[in-house]
Amino acid sequence: MLNNSSNKPGFIKLLRALSWIIPGNYLKTFIYLNCIHNVRKTLRNSLLSFYRMEHIYDVIKEFKAGYKGDFSILEFGVADGYTFTKMLYATKYLKMDERITVHGFDSFEGMPGTDDKRDGDLIANDGWVEGQFKTDFEKLQDYCKKHYRNFVFQKGYFEDSITDTVLDQLRPSPPILIWIDCDYYTSAKTVFERILPIIPSGCVIYFDEPEFNYGSRFTGESRIIHEINTGQFGEGIELVIDPSLSIMSKRIYRFINTNAELQYDRIEKLNSADELHRRTNDSPFP
Ligand SMILES: C[S@@+](CC[C@H](N)C(=O)[O-])C[C@H]1O[C@@H](n2cnc3c(N)ncnc32)[C@H](O)[C@@H]1O
Repeated sequence: MLNNSSNKPGFIKLLRALSWIIPGNYLKTFIYLNCIHNVRKTLRNSLLSFYRMEHIYDVIKEFKAGYKGDFSILEFGVADGYTFTKMLYATKYLKMDERITVHGFDSFEGMPGTDDKRDGDLIANDGWVEGQFKTDFEKLQDYCKKHYRNFVFQKGYFEDSITDTVLDQLRPSPPILIWIDCDYYTSAKTVFERILPIIPSGCVIYFDEPEFNYGSRFTGESRIIHEINTGQFGEGIELVIDPSLSIMSKRIYRFINTNAELQYDRIEKLNSADELHRRTNDSPFP
């Protein structure tokens, strides 16, 4: 390997020169950490960090601009409605509240009890506890009724609340965004086992906690992503990361099912027999 200092990137050369003029290891370290490392980190984070409320607007805009019909947004794990009411407001702000119904699924009793290792915190045995996030459902419902009309709550444990009747009601307004925030692998598993038949390909699936246990595929929501992508929920079904929505996170996927029963209806078809990209000039300019 070449060890020629002229091959070093400009940034390293600049650091070498700076280091040369700063006296002593203490001052060199202090200046490096405070004037270089922290600045680089702040710039990186401000540009690339993920904020989970932004994509709600992106998804609604995408379906408003591109597709006909009515839609739904499904949230699994609502608690006090922190996200739920923000989603409702987004439909109102974007004038889609006549076309989108937001459905909230939760027991409202807080986290269920579990002793399943796949739900547990492997790092310090400090996982969610039974009853955590219990909320006053009546208060939440009253707040929503006062401000919005396009919502439905399905109160109960997922195994009881995601019924065939509920799924049939969702078919005419297929989901465009599914928000998984029920934390446990076992809860998310019940959700996907039930709702797979009503998810069209292209639907956005958001996971709130895929970083649990550093994103290990053995636990939590990451285990569901892994299981879906290794065919355990059926052949031809996968979650494809959406880099434009997910940015540097691994939280947002597009659902793909080669056998999906439902499809969206595009306003304008993307393809036609008379399409041709005509030559212009031969430079890189368009
Ligand atoms: C982290 S909280 C949801 C937070 C909420 N999305 C927000 O924006 O504040 C997780 C919720 O999932 C619910 N949950 C977890 N497993 C469930 C299950 N099997 N059935 C019903 N609700 C469940 C809990 O009751 C809890 O309210």
